[in-house]
Amino acid sequence: MASRYFSRKPLSVLFDEANETGEHTLRRTLGPVQLVALGIGAIIGAGLFSITGFAAGNNAGPAVTISFVIAAVGCAFAGLCYAEFASMIPVAGSAYTYSYATMGQLMAWIIGWDLVLEYAVGAATVSISWSRYLVKFLDHFDLHFPAQLVMSPFDTATLGDGTVVSGIINFPAVVIVVLMSMLLIRGTQESSFVNGIIVALKVAVVLVFIGLGWAYINPANYQPYIPANNGVFGEFGWSGIIRAAGIIFFAYIGFDAVSTAAQEAKNPKKDMPVGILISLAICTVLYILFAYVMTGLAHYTEFRGQDGIAPVAVAIEHTPFGWLKQAIILAILAGYSSVILVMLLGQSRVFFSMSKDGFLPPVFSAIHPKFKTPWKSNLLFCLFVSLFAAFVPARVVGEMTSIGTLFAFVLVCIGIIVLRKSQPDAPRGFRTPLVPIVPVLGILTCFGMMAFLPLDTWLRLIAWMAIGMVIYVRYGKKRARY
Ligand code: ALA
Repeated sequence: MASRYFSRKPLSVLFDEANETGEHTLRRTLGPVQLVALGIGAIIGAGLFSITGFAAGNNAGPAVTISFVIAAVGCAFAGLCYAEFASMIPVAGSAYTYSYATMGQLMAWIIGWDLVLEYAVGAATVSISWSRYLVKFLDHFDLHFPAQLVMSPFDTATLGDGTVVSGIINFPAVVIVVLMSMLLIRGTQESSFVNGIIVALKVAVVLVFIGLGWAYINPANYQPYIPANNGVFGEFGWSGIIRAAGIIFFAYIGFDAVSTAAQEAKNPKKDMPVGILISLAICTVLYILFAYVMTGLAHYTEFRGQDGIAPVAVAIEHTPFGWLKQAIILAILAGYSSVILVMLLGQSRVFFSMSKDGFLPPVFSAIHPKFKTPWKSNLLFCLFVSLFAAFVPARVVGEMTSIGTLFAFVLVCIGIIVLRKSQPDAPRGFRTPLVPIVPVLGILTCFGMMAFLPLDTWLRLIAWMAIGMVIYVRYGKKRARY
């Protein structure tokens, strides 16, 4: 019976699935440009616009640029492993499917279940931030939501008259989740079109910030570039730089979402590695420049303790371009919606594959006859993500997203080492260089970042995985097809 846990889904079946056409499959509509846009759409979000300033002010100072390089290196190792898998096994399901083909049923279930933390819980995290920025944006026009309707019941806010109120529900966060879910049901091509417009807008704002801000950099703000450690581990000095790398890792999450759309790519063998690696490379360059300009405009101590829009707004105040502030909030709102869209897309595609393999009920792979999208799955996740967005605080969901994603990256890196042993000659469009060095470095970097996350986040990961194991034993194991 133990062998069942390690039974693998044959590659030949995966290749057949990749070539399937007809009523019950997803449409192949995405080319390389759309895939890169999908990646950037998922990557640039809360991480860049809010967490960068927080990490500079509290952990790394101007050297947050070095933290971005460190996190990018970890992501690049994992990205190279994702690229080989996605070019070889171009079906929906991403890391879940890869582990089914290489490490067997149990690992596949573990990673598929874990990916809910990255995609569904990640979408909830960004929708909570979206709600915060909507409130800020409307404030400018003197339109105000009651404070109780924009927070989870675990959050409190102090009103103008000094009274402290608790939240009831984060209503705007639910609205954006519902809107993005409707768009997804409508169709991937339509979603990809909207995503393209949003990505252009968000990249434009990042470039404008870098371009206009560059001339107003005050070199004195870079002194010292690496502030001395203040005696507390993780606050400045090199330990601060590495802690900050773990924090701003959130900013890179999303490049792997490209691989979940493999079954909708026109030419996955060639375009999957392009989509994953080019979107990661573009964002890395933009992030480092953005962080460099931001910490050059304002002294890092000005970002201390800040979150939300404050870091970017603080930086802009050092330029004559005050109007940029409102424009950036608008881009953040649009930008966050594309992150939520791609995360929800990724989630439904992972469960689509798990359902087709028998691990989950057929409802998750039911395709809409007209729109050709897994609409019932989209609806169920709309409900699930809305519940998290409405009732759970941002920090909790944010850290669950990070730990879940890092865990998935570790498993994908292990998968490449196994794949090279078990299927050395199977054709693939892209080969990870220097195996096993690159995957081993990927495992070490990602696990290192996991180790820096707090204990309560580890406990939540363990609890989530335990729930998953019960479902696997009682449902999936008995029904799995391979
Ligand atoms: N990388 C995405 C963001 O920063 C998740 O919002």
